[in-house]
Amino acid sequence: MKAKKLNLKLSNALFSKAKKDHPGGVLGIRRPYNFVEGEYPIYFVDGKGVKVKDVDGNEYIDMLCSYGPIIIGHRENKIDNKVINQIKKKGFCFSLTQPIHNLISSELKKLIPSCEMSVLVKTGSDATTAAIRAARCFTKKNKILRCGYHGWHDWCVEVQGGIPKSTLQDILEFKYNDIGSVEKIVKENKNEIAAIITTPISHPLGKKVEMPKKSFLNDLREITKKHNIVLIFDEIRSGFRVNLGGAQKYFGVTPDLSTFGKAIANGYEIAALVGKTEIMKAYEKEAFISATYFENSLPIIAALETIKFLKKNNVIKDINKKGLYFQKKVEKILSNYHEICEFSGGPWMPYITFKKDTENKYKFKRKQFFTNLIRRGVFAQPFHHSYIAYRHSIKDLNFVADAIEDSIKNL
Ligand SMILES: Cc1ncc(COP(=O)(O)O)c(C=O)c1O
Repeated sequence: MKAKKLNLKLSNALFSKAKKDHPGGVLGIRRPYNFVEGEYPIYFVDGKGVKVKDVDGNEYIDMLCSYGPIIIGHRENKIDNKVINQIKKKGFCFSLTQPIHNLISSELKKLIPSCEMSVLVKTGSDATTAAIRAARCFTKKNKILRCGYHGWHDWCVEVQGGIPKSTLQDILEFKYNDIGSVEKIVKENKNEIAAIITTPISHPLGKKVEMPKKSFLNDLREITKKHNIVLIFDEIRSGFRVNLGGAQKYFGVTPDLSTFGKAIANGYEIAALVGKTEIMKAYEKEAFISATYFENSLPIIAALETIKFLKKNNVIKDINKKGLYFQKKVEKILSNYHEICEFSGGPWMPYITFKKDTENKYKFKRKQFFTNLIRRGVFAQPFHHSYIAYRHSIKDLNFVADAIEDSIKNL
């Protein structure tokens, strides 16, 4: 059945106004052209669990989970109440650090294999940039070998307006799961590479999610050890989702440094660089890291409470189980359509991508498919994988799977 176009009057009116006051109206990936223009809402007003509501009153099942931080659900009472309590009873922004800082450091140390020391920051971009600086400081080398999205800072952002060429001359790229490409670059830049940074699972924009080949992460570990290169896993998406100890624990490969963010605090703004003492010690004196808000205690409280919740409710196991159920269901639906689209992302990052064809019809199909989905009340991103959250019930996931089936039939 064809679904009706949504009423998005208020979203569109707000966006028209915003474009006069903000460059682009809204920032980056939240811009309408990154969804299906004219079909998706532009403003959400509230969310509870995995239901989100737009400014026009349309309700959706949230499959994007705020690009990853929502691991449990929106407005999770236990976490929010702890934060509110801190605001009301103690305060959170002081000229000195609050003792709670020590608690999160020991928690990270207990959970993450590569964590001997940690530094708390605010965003994933802060954490990956801090990792690069520590690696350069420790090795006294400059070149960085990277693969994947690591944030919006100068050394790694894809859109390069405003960035001096000199900043990028020491940044080299390799292909995920292609150890040969790594070996070649390492050989060509002997004794010059400070760090290799990669996401343990590959999730490029608009392309299918790729799991590491059997020995890929291990091979990276071997090469970096051999050539005195710091190995960094960017776990901003995989951390506190694939496993409480990150994808490094799940795949059994321990990097020298790693970065965490997103799911660590169910939506509160915190990220962390963790790693080996000898490298992290760069920040004792030689390298600098500090910011006005890094030590604010609200996101630390939220992170501790989130971790407590994840442990108590076996959230990782639960998500894995529900994710597998969803994966099987969707794969079965898509088995009749394998010439045009495919499922990837496993139980954690489910994604349906459309296969390229010579006439570029896949773009039209992708647009139609995601239009059908949003009209049926499923909020998913055409160019980004989804996530499963703890508050997604089997009923929610069945609803989404039915919407997928309807939408694909309607192409
Ligand atoms: C793997 C990865 N690294 C780094 C970042 C940057 O994180 P943030 O957007 O919090 O700066 C992201 C953000 O999506 C990410 O997915």
